[in-house]
Amino acid sequence: MRKTPGLIVALDVKDLVAATKLVEQLRSAVTLFKVGVQLFTAEGPRAVEAVQKRGGQVFLDLKLHDIPNTVAAAVREAAKMGAVMCTLHASGGRQMLQAAKEAVTQSGSSMRLLAVTILTSLDPHGYEEAIGSGLGLQAHVIRLASLAREAGMDGIVASTHEIAPLRAAVGPSMLIVTPGVRPEWAPADDQLRVMTPREAAAAGADYIVIGRPITTAADPAAAARRVLAELPVVA
Ligand code: C5P
Repeated sequence: MRKTPGLIVALDVKDLVAATKLVEQLRSAVTLFKVGVQLFTAEGPRAVEAVQKRGGQVFLDLKLHDIPNTVAAAVREAAKMGAVMCTLHASGGRQMLQAAKEAVTQSGSSMRLLAVTILTSLDPHGYEEAIGSGLGLQAHVIRLASLAREAGMDGIVASTHEIAPLRAAVGPSMLIVTPGVRPEWAPADDQLRVMTPREAAAAGADYIVIGRPITTAADPAAAARRVLAELPVVA
């Protein structure tokens, strides 16, 4: 039986002051925070340290995509910073993924590598225009997820509606981390196809990523607790 999914709060804010304030507000309820390209570009490793200093762990969502040597070097730095998870694009290819994996192994870190497949912001038309492999979007997502597994990645990032087919393709041991989660009481914002925390858990997510419903709430810790209370408790 699967475990209760973990909650990752996305710190999509512009600077360290805002990020620190949120972590302080949330620290009693949440332990895992996503630092993405906005905050990391603005503040760099200081953003990671700010979370860690307040007892939090960091999901470093940099979606790395470069030649194998460069990605391996970046992954080594992420591991050195003590991030517990880091993302990279599966479309960087087998060698890039394997080089990243080797960098983590050699660094002696337990940081998990999570692969992004096709950005869910691409609709079928945008996908054909930018990538268009002849495979089609859905099959391409599955192919990249399988490649990620073969190359030793620990998991994948997937939209809620991709969880079931991806779980079938990659098996039970790969972690599935999913954004696009909305409690019933929160607005969807710009997310088009959402699931509730409970639905995402039932679909097989290992971690759910939630930003605005928690970070823009009047009381972020209360909003986080409300999300946690909605998750099924599985022993
Ligand atoms: O505020 P919200 O809950 O929509 O934030 C979701 C987070 O997950 C954001 O950091 C967003 O960039 C990220 N994300 C997403 N959809 C994807 C991939 C990442 O919403 N397909």
